[in-house]
Amino acid sequence: MPTVEKPSASKKPYLPGDESLGHLLHKVGQYAEAYLSRLSDLPTSRQVPDLPDLRLPEAGLGGEAALAVFDERFREVLVAASGPRYWGFVTGGTTPAAIAGDWLTAVFDQNPQSLTGPSGGDVSATIEAQTIALYRQLFGLPDAFLGGFVTGATMANFTGLAVGRQWAGRQVGHDTARAGVLPGSVRVLAASPHSSSIKSLALLGLGSASLEAVRTLPGREAMDPDHLADLLEQEPGRPVIVIASGGTVNTVDFDDMQALAALKGRRPFWLHVDAAFGGFAAVSPALASRLTGWEQADSIAIDNHKWMNVPYDNAVWLVRREYASLQVETFQNTNAPYLGDPLANFNYLNMGPENSRRLRALPVWLSLMAYGRSGFQTLVEQSVHLAERFGQMVEESGFLQLEAPVRLNVVCFSLRHHRTDPAWLRAFHQALNADGRVFVTPTSYNGAACLRAAFVNWRTTEADLDTAMEAMQESWRQIQGPSR
Ligand SMILES: Cc1ncc(COP(=O)(O)O)c(C=O)c1O
Repeated sequence: MPTVEKPSASKKPYLPGDESLGHLLHKVGQYAEAYLSRLSDLPTSRQVPDLPDLRLPEAGLGGEAALAVFDERFREVLVAASGPRYWGFVTGGTTPAAIAGDWLTAVFDQNPQSLTGPSGGDVSATIEAQTIALYRQLFGLPDAFLGGFVTGATMANFTGLAVGRQWAGRQVGHDTARAGVLPGSVRVLAASPHSSSIKSLALLGLGSASLEAVRTLPGREAMDPDHLADLLEQEPGRPVIVIASGGTVNTVDFDDMQALAALKGRRPFWLHVDAAFGGFAAVSPALASRLTGWEQADSIAIDNHKWMNVPYDNAVWLVRREYASLQVETFQNTNAPYLGDPLANFNYLNMGPENSRRLRALPVWLSLMAYGRSGFQTLVEQSVHLAERFGQMVEESGFLQLEAPVRLNVVCFSLRHHRTDPAWLRAFHQALNADGRVFVTPTSYNGAACLRAAFVNWRTTEADLDTAMEAMQESWRQIQGPSR
């Protein structure tokens, strides 16, 4: 017996097939182009007005009319997050090839899983694996790494650290994935880890409080390898995971990966490198030495929605091939015969936290092929040049002050006469956001209340530096007015 009746013609809702796909895609293409062509003039922050929830329409509007409603409702409040003066956090832009690849990801709607497994007949996992091969070439990393795509560096850190956790358990004959974490069994050492690694420790049951701080070098965020060596001498019975920074968020400092990796000779440990955006230094021969030794890591996390200028959400984990079985132990689907034997065939759903996934490799594949090694080298070097130039402008401004040397692509600065007063910085930041020409994010560093400007967007030019500095000068004058 059927459980639902055939819909009557008179009550027929608007169904996807009722609309011309070609017409809608054409409209969306025009809409997207118009938006992107205005990007440089759009505000970088806006006050979000009170937006009451909408009622779900009983009869669908159709795609084109729905887009018109969206536009009317949200156009005036969207910010230019992929624009040339959006320097907050570490926010990448979107190149044409990356947008095209991301659109086609939706069009093809693949679910990359098995290279050879029982599902067969599906090339999407091969596309993902071949994109990783191109990716390793861009970064000069050896074939020794397997890789796959996840949503962001948070999940890439999670993936690398999860395999590290399994490795650590195995050092003492324990299968953590099956039996759970033995409390206090693993030591985790890091100097200036990103918050997402600490969050990963919480998710992995290792506990965020398990992190032991390694001293930094004087005046730096980079780890002191001698202190790491001392800590490694202690508690020989407890396996160790070391989280290294391949670019810290405030000052883009790099741990000395070569010195760290050399310590493995004295006592084995799992070396995870968070190179979310700093990994792109490897693309420039002039900058690559910052990462010397990272090829000896056990796992690496790199974001693509930052310096690669691929749309959100997109990142890569890399884990040494020799640990593939530990990775499968960690992420396998064990009770699903319809998915095949996790150990017999390579299948992405046994290698990472998600099962079903979109083909995130595609925008990266198109970007790598469209721009090649030299395209990315130019992008990285241009960003670094802009950061250095903006650092000079900060020093020359008279009212701003650098809080750290510009080591790569982030400028960390304070209000020169109010370095340690967060109220002044808040007022300045609010004025800057109300102005809407440049977006930077607050932080604290070196005992000062600071702002960070991160340069990774391919659209940013020297003219944008001038526009941003004008906005800063005007905001500074404004907050010194009688209202303060
Ligand atoms: C060094 C570092 N690691 C990890 C992350 C987390 O990345 P995501 O937000 O893409 O997950 C970031 C984000 O800024 C980062 O800068």
